[in-house]
Amino acid sequence: MSLYGGMNTAQGSNSCLCDLRSDTMTAPDGAMRAAMAAAVVGDDVYGEDPTVTVLESRLATLLDKEAAVFMPTGTQSNLASLMAHCGRGDEIIVGDPYHIYCDEAAGASVLGGISMNAIATQANGAVSPADVTAAIKVDDPHYARSRLLCLENTVGGQVIPLDDMRAAARVAWDAGLFVHLDGARFFNAITALGCEAIELANYADSISICMSKGLGAPVGSVLVGSSALIMQARRNRKILGGSMRQAGVLAAAALHALDHNLPDLERDHANACALATALTEMGAGDIQLGSNMLFFTPRDKNPDALRIHMADAGIRIGGQSPAIRMVLHRDVTDDGLDATITAFQSYFTKE
Ligand SMILES: Cc1ncc(COP(=O)(O)O)c(C=O)c1O
Repeated sequence: MSLYGGMNTAQGSNSCLCDLRSDTMTAPDGAMRAAMAAAVVGDDVYGEDPTVTVLESRLATLLDKEAAVFMPTGTQSNLASLMAHCGRGDEIIVGDPYHIYCDEAAGASVLGGISMNAIATQANGAVSPADVTAAIKVDDPHYARSRLLCLENTVGGQVIPLDDMRAAARVAWDAGLFVHLDGARFFNAITALGCEAIELANYADSISICMSKGLGAPVGSVLVGSSALIMQARRNRKILGGSMRQAGVLAAAALHALDHNLPDLERDHANACALATALTEMGAGDIQLGSNMLFFTPRDKNPDALRIHMADAGIRIGGQSPAIRMVLHRDVTDDGLDATITAFQSYFTKE
């Protein structure tokens, strides 16, 4: 079983009742596909795709930053940003469970010559200002140059409060560092915080947002920041493999998501809560709940047996151990959620 929940099985996500492995499992719906088909496109390498340009300026305006650039993935968007902020021999400070440190194949070091100083996070997923301060190196030829603080929100579904964002950003800025926010699930964060986009964006110089997680778009991330930073990130995008041509078909999906799908994130969070409540009532095991995600350790500590039982019932859950990740998203139907709860009930009552 792979970490990502058995990608080697023959069963496709479309043929199962409910796929809880990730909020990347959504497929574009009919209305989104229609918007993609109707997109006005041009060659974005020439800067001539009007739909891409609309998406970029829409997010820049929403986050009150000067500019934005459309990227194929969150990983590329983060890396292009890190390489725009940092030169070779510079160092980022990053929470040790954060995606940039754990799940991006050390691209910052491999391709950017950037050193990663990973620091422990607090129970809520935030980095503490004291730990950030302690991690900042003095200017000495022996040391890497501390250049950038990398924050994340949400972190494994956990929503970092604005106070924690502000406190961490402030110590970094006071020490002359920049701040990057991996906001792959930026809209889940602001939905759960009940704040405006700008209130969260205030605490970072650059923000990477994924349109393909929870919002229903098939592909795409947007990096937002100052004009100078985004100009450098465009160059880095080229270095990292190039830019896309008629990418307006993808930008149209992202714009459609911004127009229509944001309110549905509340439903995903409520569904995560409902699933957590049902598991708690069954006494099924330990649960950590945050926004649209649950990390669930079954009481028999046998996630593989549970995964097989759930797969037999047409439910796919994460491949992690001992805590299984389950992510609620817009393609989880009411029937799918009911079937999931029923399948858990049958597993934990037969035990
Ligand atoms: C927090 C976070 N950041 C960045 C990424 C990378 O996004 P992508 O898969 O589009 O490269 C992910 C992907 O799951 C993520 O969860």
